[in-house]
Amino acid sequence: MTSWSLDDARARDAADPLAPYREKFHLPPDTVYLCGHSLGAQPRSAQGAVLEELEDWKRLAVKGHREARRPWMPYHELLADKGARIVGALPGEVVHMNTLTVNVHFLMASFYRPTPERHKILIEKHAFPSDQYAMASQIKWHGFDPESSLVEVERSEDAEAILERSGDEFALVWIGGVNYYSGEAFRMESITRLAHEHGVIAGFDLAHAAGNVPLSLHDWGVDFACWCTYKYLNGGPGAVGACFVHERHGRRDDLPRLAGWWGHDKATRFQMGPDYVPIPGAEGWQVSNPPILSLAPVLASLEMFDAVGLAALRSKSVALTGYFQSLIEARLAETVEVLTPRDPYRRGAQLSLRVRGGTGRAVFDGLSARGIVCDWREPDVIRAAPAPFYNSFEDVYRFVDVAAQVTDS
Ligand SMILES: Cc1ncc(COP(=O)(O)O)c(C=O)c1O
Repeated sequence: MTSWSLDDARARDAADPLAPYREKFHLPPDTVYLCGHSLGAQPRSAQGAVLEELEDWKRLAVKGHREARRPWMPYHELLADKGARIVGALPGEVVHMNTLTVNVHFLMASFYRPTPERHKILIEKHAFPSDQYAMASQIKWHGFDPESSLVEVERSEDAEAILERSGDEFALVWIGGVNYYSGEAFRMESITRLAHEHGVIAGFDLAHAAGNVPLSLHDWGVDFACWCTYKYLNGGPGAVGACFVHERHGRRDDLPRLAGWWGHDKATRFQMGPDYVPIPGAEGWQVSNPPILSLAPVLASLEMFDAVGLAALRSKSVALTGYFQSLIEARLAETVEVLTPRDPYRRGAQLSLRVRGGTGRAVFDGLSARGIVCDWREPDVIRAAPAPFYNSFEDVYRFVDVAAQVTDS
């Protein structure tokens, strides 16, 4: 029988091959940090990466575009393949640019082409508000009414059922790969397949999925996706976001897009001609030249993902989150309900917890007062995510131990 003791948690850490990576991050002192689903911890390499660019700017000014240690002109290219590996994409299908909701709008300009017969968007219930606002505003922008054009579904199974039943009414699926509130991972592969069977474009918000759960966007045939890099990807507050555009769309000239000079053919960009010629692939959706100081920590973090590999991270994540749930069931079964699906294929690192009896907010405040950093989402959920890169089994043990003390009192 398992003993759910601190010694047991420490023994699990001692056996964890990724445990040394914790030292490669700055973690806030005297806390247990379980908030990587909101803002990832700072990689120790991030500061040097930013300083290097500041120094090159000081030293070279405009010449840095070509002569910086990492020349700025093609700087975003350094991130492309690394980002592609995170989401299971081909080289050329991923670009880092702008921020998440901005990218959603830019890609919707190409991929949401409603007609009177087919104007609906399928979205998950409790989608992150920015997605709801973006979808509703796009629907209105095209002269339709969100009341009739925005359709919400609770779970993966509901999305699949509605696509089978009435897919022909939909123009687009826009679903969070992992829902921010419940932590449920949607079945992106089957949703994409069903969408395509009915002529529907399949897009996903991967804010909570990228760097968290295994993704094969190219093989699944996903049309487009957007994500941020400040959660599991540890890219820093407000870090530059990323987009995926499937290669079958990358050379299409029939897709309208909101263009800017950075998406223009690199060979002729500086001829400053009047006609727009997009770069083939995701890069062709760029609009502005990229913010180097913001990309630098993202690059530093993606280098760490490459060094460790997603498979190793995922394997630890499944063990860590499974341990988290078992510990809650062993010590908090009477008071805490886990809303996130139990099946590892249907979740990532996050557990969403509801405290029975309506005392969730008080429990959250008690955890915060005792140095446990997780978060509260209205109306009644505590979210906590053990990130495999830097969290330990002991962190998880401490969360549950403190939660037990708080609920007992
Ligand atoms: C699922 C999801 N979508 C969209 C956003 C908004 O991101 P941004 O402010 O980078 O546009 C967030 C932010 O946390 C999110 O969690």
